[in-house]
Amino acid sequence: MKVLVCGGAGYIGSHTCVALLQHGHEVVIFDSLVNSSPFAVENINILGKSSARFVLGDVRDRDALEAVLAEGFDAVIHFAGLKVACESLEKPLVYFDNNIVGTLTLLQAMQATGVRNLVFSSSASVYGQPDRVPISENAPLRVINPYGRSKLVMEQLIGEFCLADPRFSAILLRYFNPAGAHPSGQLGEDPSGSPSNLVPYVAQVAAGLHAHLSIFGNDYPTHDGTGVRDYIHVMDLADAHMKALDRLDGGGCIVMNLGAGRGYSVLDVVAAFERVCGRPVPYVFEDRRPGDVAEVWADPSLAERTLGWRARYGLRRMCEDAWRWQIKHPHGFRREEARRLSLRRLSAP
Ligand code: NAD
Ligand code: UD1
Repeated sequence: MKVLVCGGAGYIGSHTCVALLQHGHEVVIFDSLVNSSPFAVENINILGKSSARFVLGDVRDRDALEAVLAEGFDAVIHFAGLKVACESLEKPLVYFDNNIVGTLTLLQAMQATGVRNLVFSSSASVYGQPDRVPISENAPLRVINPYGRSKLVMEQLIGEFCLADPRFSAILLRYFNPAGAHPSGQLGEDPSGSPSNLVPYVAQVAAGLHAHLSIFGNDYPTHDGTGVRDYIHVMDLADAHMKALDRLDGGGCIVMNLGAGRGYSVLDVVAAFERVCGRPVPYVFEDRRPGDVAEVWADPSLAERTLGWRARYGLRRMCEDAWRWQIKHPHGFRREEARRLSLRRLSAP
C-alpha cells in the first residue's frame, strides 16, 4: 500500500512508520514537527531499511495536503495532533484548532482527492470517568478536558462523514496508555520539555534528570491508593495499525479500544522500572492531579475479534525498552539542533 502518515515523526507514528516500511509499504510522512524531530525521520529510515519520504506541513493547510494526496494513496493514518490533556485545560482553543480543524481539513482533502481509507488516533480520554472497568467501546463518553473533547468531536466528524459517503472507510483506535520504545533504543517518546506522562518521567528520574517523581494521589480506591492505568507497548500499537490497514474494506466506521486489558498502579510501574534499571526511583506523594480518574483499563476484545490483534508485550518489556531509549537518548533528539541541521535536507524534493 501507499500510505500517508500524518504526524508520522511523532512517538506512535514513528514506530508505526518503521513497521510499515518493514512490511514493504510505501510511506510518506506529513508532519509539522511541532512536537517531533527530523532525527526521528532519519531513524525511521534506518530501522525500516527503506526510505519514507518526508513532507514538512501542517494538516490545517489544505493546499499542502491536497498537493500530496493528489499523487494517489491507498490510505491515510492520522496521528497529527496535540496530546497533553492538562495543557488543553489552559489552551482549549489551540487544541480545538490544531486537532479538530486539522482533522476536518484532512477529511476535505481526502474527499477532494478520492482517498477513502483512514485510520485515526483516538484516545481512552473520550471515556473520562468510567462507571466500571474494564471499559468497552459502548461505555458512556464523558470527556473531562478539552483534549478529550477534541478526540470525541473528531470521532464524530469522521463517523458522520462515513455515513454520508459509504465508500469512505475509517477505523478509530482508542489508545489507552502508550509506553515503551523501539527495542533498538533509537526511537522513543521525545516530548518537548518535561514529560507529563508517567513512564517517560519515571525514566528521567531513574536517569537522574529529576530529583524525584511526584505521585499524584495515594488515596484512590485502588489496591495501593495510586491511579491504575492500562499501559500498552508502542510496538503493539504499531502492529495494531498494520492490522487496521488490512481491515479497511470500503465503507463504514469502526471504533475500537487498544489496551492490554489489565491495569497497573503508579507504584506498580515504579517497582517494575526499578527492577529493570537496577536503581531506586525516588518519589513523593502529592495531591491528586486535577482531571485524573482512579482506574482506567480496557476491554480490548473487539480489537482481538475484528483485527486479530492483542497486546504481546507486558509492563516489564515496556520499562526495559523505555530505559534503553532513555540511556541512548538522555535528552531525546535535542530538538532545536536537529531542526537546524536536518530540516533543509529532509524537506528537499
Ligand atoms: P506526538 O506528539 O509524539 O506525535 C504527534 C505528531 O503530530 C508530532 O510529530 C507532531 O509534530 C505532529 N503534529 C501535531 N500537530 C500537527 C499539525 N497540525 N500538522 C502536522 N503535524 C502535526 O504524539 P503521539 O504520542 O505519537 O500521539 C499520536 C496521536 O495519538 C495523537 O493524536 C494523540 O492525541 C493520540 N494519543 C496519544 C496517546 C499517548 O499517550 N501518546 C494516547 C492516546 C491518544
Ligand atoms: C493522560 C491524559 C489523557 C491522555 C493520556 C495520553 C490527563 C488527565 N489525562 O492520561 O487524556 O489521553 O495522558 O497522553 O492528563 N502520574 C503521576 N506522576 C506523574 C505523571 C503521572 O503520579 O508525574 C500518574 C497519573 O496521576 C496517572 C498515571 O500516573 O494515575 C498515568 O498518568 P499519565 O501517564 O499522565 O496518563 P493518564 O493520566 O492516564
